[in-house]
Amino acid sequence: MPVPPVDPDSAQGPPPVLSYPPPPAHATPAQQHEYERGRWNHFLLDDTWRRTRFNAQPNALLVEAVRHQPPGRALDVNMGEGRNALYLAQLGWQVTGIDFAEQALAFAQQRAQALGLVLTTIAQDLRTFAWDPDQWDLLVLSYADDSAHVAEVHRALKPGGLVVFENFHAEVNQAWNTPPDQQVGFATDELPALYTAAGFRILHYKEPVKAADFTRETHRLVQLVAQKC
Ligand SMILES: C[S@@+](CC[C@H](N)C(=O)[O-])C[C@H]1O[C@@H](n2cnc3c(N)ncnc32)[C@H](O)[C@@H]1O
Repeated sequence: MPVPPVDPDSAQGPPPVLSYPPPPAHATPAQQHEYERGRWNHFLLDDTWRRTRFNAQPNALLVEAVRHQPPGRALDVNMGEGRNALYLAQLGWQVTGIDFAEQALAFAQQRAQALGLVLTTIAQDLRTFAWDPDQWDLLVLSYADDSAHVAEVHRALKPGGLVVFENFHAEVNQAWNTPPDQQVGFATDELPALYTAAGFRILHYKEPVKAADFTRETHRLVQLVAQKC
């Protein structure tokens, strides 16, 4: 997912210039991967980006989804700097976060220590992650990436476990002028169709136009809470 352009309405005063070098021309997949890792390490910890763009609060859909859940084992997929993982740990969940941005994970670990919390972090490319079966009571995919991850989520959740999923609707490609070969987001009703077909019970699904929980830009979002039957 690209770091989205600045929405002037979401910042106080004129939008700051948030620049990052472009990827190398004709990058190999390995070079592109390294570039993305560096870019996320940079933005997730950058003071200006955090002050003007980032919502450091836990994802509101997640907060609502776990309100009445007994704590168990949670995996925060593409965790970032830990806003959701630390919230769950504070509620008593045993939380593991995976992300390839190792500096963001280190930041989360520092905050966990300061709060007296235990957080397990895995610095790894999600594409090589094992998704072992029946491991988790909760899977969090908060602006994780551009895959629905249905098969992996179904395998890795324990029966009765929940997945909380929020990301951009595919409409965002128009606003961001995304090139045809780099489209992001999810189509109307794509997620509930995929998760229902895989045997999940849909507990909540909405496509609201509202401020994105991650970067505070206003776009159409997709919000899913589903339970593995
Ligand atoms: C939009 S951020 C969301 C962070 C976090 N889930 C949140 O809601 O605050 C996307 C995250 O995915 C991570 N990421 C992207 N591609 C990845 C990959 N292939 N393997 C592991 N992490 C990846 C980035 O480092 C970044 O932390």
